[in-house]
Formats: sequence, C-alpha cells, structure tokens
Amino acid sequence: MIDFNESSDAVLLIVDDEKSTRDGLRLALEDNFDCYVASDIREAMNILKSEKVDLMLTDLRMGGDNGMDLLDQALTLPHPHAPIAIMMTAYGSVDTAVEAMRRGAWHFVTKPLNLDEVEMLIKRALRGRKQETKIVKLEQENQQLRKDTGKSPHGLERLIGSSPAMAQIHQMITQIAPTKATVLVEGESGTGKELVAGAIHAMSGRPADKMVTVNCAALSPQLLESELFGHEKGAFTGASQKRIGRFEQASGGTIFLDEIGEIDQATQVKLLRVLSEKTIERVGSNTQVKVDVRVVTATNKNLRKMVAKGDFREDLFFRLNVVKIEMPPLRKRSEDIILLANAFLKEFTIENKREEKPLSDEAANLLQNYRWPGNVRELRTAIEHGVVMSNDSLIHPKHLPSFLLKNDSSLENNVITDAETKNSLAKPADFNLSALEKMTIKRALDHSGGNRTTAAELLGISRRTLHRKLKDL
Ligand SMILES: Nc1ncnc2c1ncn2[C@@H]1O[C@H](COP(=O)(O)OP(=O)(O)OP(=O)(O)O)[C@@H](O)[C@H]1O
Ligand SMILES: [Mg+2]
Repeated sequence: MIDFNESSDAVLLIVDDEKSTRDGLRLALEDNFDCYVASDIREAMNILKSEKVDLMLTDLRMGGDNGMDLLDQALTLPHPHAPIAIMMTAYGSVDTAVEAMRRGAWHFVTKPLNLDEVEMLIKRALRGRKQETKIVKLEQENQQLRKDTGKSPHGLERLIGSSPAMAQIHQMITQIAPTKATVLVEGESGTGKELVAGAIHAMSGRPADKMVTVNCAALSPQLLESELFGHEKGAFTGASQKRIGRFEQASGGTIFLDEIGEIDQATQVKLLRVLSEKTIERVGSNTQVKVDVRVVTATNKNLRKMVAKGDFREDLFFRLNVVKIEMPPLRKRSEDIILLANAFLKEFTIENKREEKPLSDEAANLLQNYRWPGNVRELRTAIEHGVVMSNDSLIHPKHLPSFLLKNDSSLENNVITDAETKNSLAKPADFNLSALEKMTIKRALDHSGGNRTTAAELLGISRRTLHRKLKDL
C-alpha cells in the first residue's frame, strides 16, 4: 500500500489541542506529506476511519483527552487504517512516553519540538514500514509460487527411490509421521532432507498450511532468536513492532528447523526450554505462551560429533534426536540414480516444453558411475542441463555438464588449484583478491548446482560466511 521516496505522498495526521502546534507542524510538513489535523480524539478517529493515514503524530495531553486512549483506539483499527504512531510529550514526561511505546507507539518526541528531528523521525518510521511491507509481500509471493508450481511439501510420492535404504526411509516416515515425536534428519547436502520434513508434515494429519520452515544458518544469532520466538515492540533497537515468532505461527502444525547445527549456544538454551516446557517467551517479555508444535530438524553435520567437541549441547541433542532419519548419500544407493534421472527428465521436459528424449546408454552409464558429491540435487541439475542442451533425439554424454564427462568428482579438482592461484597472483594489473574470491565462489556454486551448503563445504567456510560474502560481492 505504501511506496514512498524521500519526499512522498504519505498521509499524516497531526493531533494536538493547541492550534499553534497543529498549524506549525502542518506548515513544516505539508511540503513533503499530505497532512490532516485534528484537535481531539473524536476528530482524529473520524479521519483515521475514513482516510488511509500512514502515520499519526499525536500529543499526549490534550485538554480532557488522553493521547494514550487515542493510541489504543487507533492501533486496533483494522488494516489499512491503523497508522504508525509517534507521540509528542512535554519535556520531563519520558516515563509516559515509554509507556506509550509499550502500548504500540513507534517513537516519541519531546516538546518544544525540533522540527527537523520530527521530520527525520517521520521519514525513518515510514521507511521502516516500507521495508516490512516489502518483506510481507515477498513472503506472500513465495507462498503463491509454491502453490502455483505445486512444490509445496507433498507426501512420500515426492521422495523417489526404490533402493532398500529408501524403502526403509519411506516405512519409517509412514510410521512416525502421525506421532508427535521430534525428528532429526541427518544427511549430506542434497540428499532430500527437506523433502523428508515435508513428507512427515504432509502425513502428520496436521493442517497442510501449518508447516513453518526456518533456515537457522541464514540469520544472525539475534535475528534467529527473534525469528523463532518473536519479540515485543522495543525489545531491541529496530524492534519497532511486536512480532509473532515462527513457533507461535506454527502452533498446531510443524516447525522445520533446517541446518540446526548452525545455531549458537544461547539459542540452543532457549530451544531446549521450548522443547521441555512447550512454551515460548517472546524476546523482551516474561510472559509464557503455550505452543503445540511438532519439531523436525535437519543438518548435514554430525550432531553427535559436535556434542563430543562441545559445539552442541548434549541435552538439546537428546531432545532433538528422539527419532533419527539418516539420509544415505546417492552414491550408496546407485539403484536410485536412473529412476531419479528419468523422473527429473520428465519434469524438465514438461517445464521447458521440450520433446521427450531418453538418456543414451552412454549417458546413463556416466550418471551411474559418477560419485555425486552434491547428491540428488546435483543429479537434478545435471538432468536439467541435459534436457536443455540436447538438440538430438537422445540425451548424450556431451549434453551433460562437463564435470561428468571428465568423470572427475573429486572435490579438489572442482575448486581452484594451486597452480591457477599462482597464475592469477602473477597478474598484478587486472587482478585483485576479491576477483579471485569471486571466481572461486562461483566455481564452488557451479559445482554444487547452486547449493550454498555444498559450496560452503567445498570452500571450507561456514554457510553463514558464504552468505555474507555473496552479499558483499
Ligand atoms: N528422493 C528424492 N526424490 C526426488 N527428488 C529428490 C529426492 N531427494 C532430493 N530430491 C531433490 O533434490 C533437491 C535437494 O533436496 P533437499 O533440498 O530436500 O536436500 P537437503 O538434504 O535438504 O539439502 P541441503 O542439506 O543442501 O539443504 C531438491 O530439488 C529435491 O526435490
Ligand atoms: Mg535442506
């Protein structure tokens, strides 16, 4: 609903019982904003109900009216009528201002007003709202996309494989899905851990749309904590609105904590408490909120080893490891390779509106004998490559990615070599360290079929570090 630049057509409402303040503010702000004024609660509420006001600047003490009552009423208006609120207080009544923020005001300014400060604050508040709107929109788009492409978590039919190892996994999922048992899915990157989590939820009998996924590696410790448990307004700098955490969102359903091996010690403690007491506490609050959530976690690390090294809490490990599903790497179930390849072939043929082309015997052989360090994900990308590149009636080896042709699956050969590094360093003019870094990261990502976890492993850095580097680049 809001999309403003620096100078915008955002709508403001100025509420003050003193005419001189109202007029002064309006004069100062109307060049940049669309301004309404009101002198008491009744007038203010009438405007709020009829106009889409983005931000309300209100006095706290207005004759017989209390700005706090206006705040309460304004914030309970239905979307899009609830505005961001900034309170104006007399110097010295900061306590009241803090109370106002606790009740939902975004910020406060003290009188006498510094007009530049007021304007800056308004712009900052509006920018914050714009960011939030963007994030919500992105999430909605994502959800729609998942619905459209039918890639929302399905049951077992999505988890292709007829090897004894996969048959056992199917059976295990069927058995434990309807229970409340906490499940830990371990396995190398690209082995289908997320699909397993989806299948568990799909077969759990819990509402289909109540699965919430959190990638624990993608967020800084502080963000992760507030993402999981939510926060109260003002709990920390930047917490301008109260936020419901993922655990609360998932209540009644399943929460899938991906890359659980990446969470920091402090969050481990909090998570342990959630699992043992089945309640959460929002950051900045002491109130316990009951949640009924099935917890599924996944990692490509060996958690037991992490426990032994003191990197992961043992008590938490036991809570998470009630049922363990270990995804076998693709090289250990080669019976599944051709089955999977043919399924992906069909998928990408349809997606790219191509004619159906089978794999040549040589191509099938190549697939069968490769080591697949990136597991099923890597196979999937290889088949996509084949479908797109083939201009023949079959998919031949030459249509597959070149690393298969060299049949060279040793990881070392797929990242930059010493010789290459030396070579690059010998070129002072057009070379710099970040270019080398960029190239190395690109290669690792190409090799992993875009999978960041595998790429990070290849590079010997944590996924979070890779994330940061990608952002910088
Ligand atoms: N058994 C399978 N049948 C069909 N597709 C599969 C299977 N296993 C994995 N895939 C596909 O491979 C890709 C990777 O799977 P997924 O994301 O579940 O792996 P992961 O183990 O979670 O990997 P990571 O550790 O990198 O997060 C996805 O596109 C998924 O659909
Ligand atoms: Mg995953």
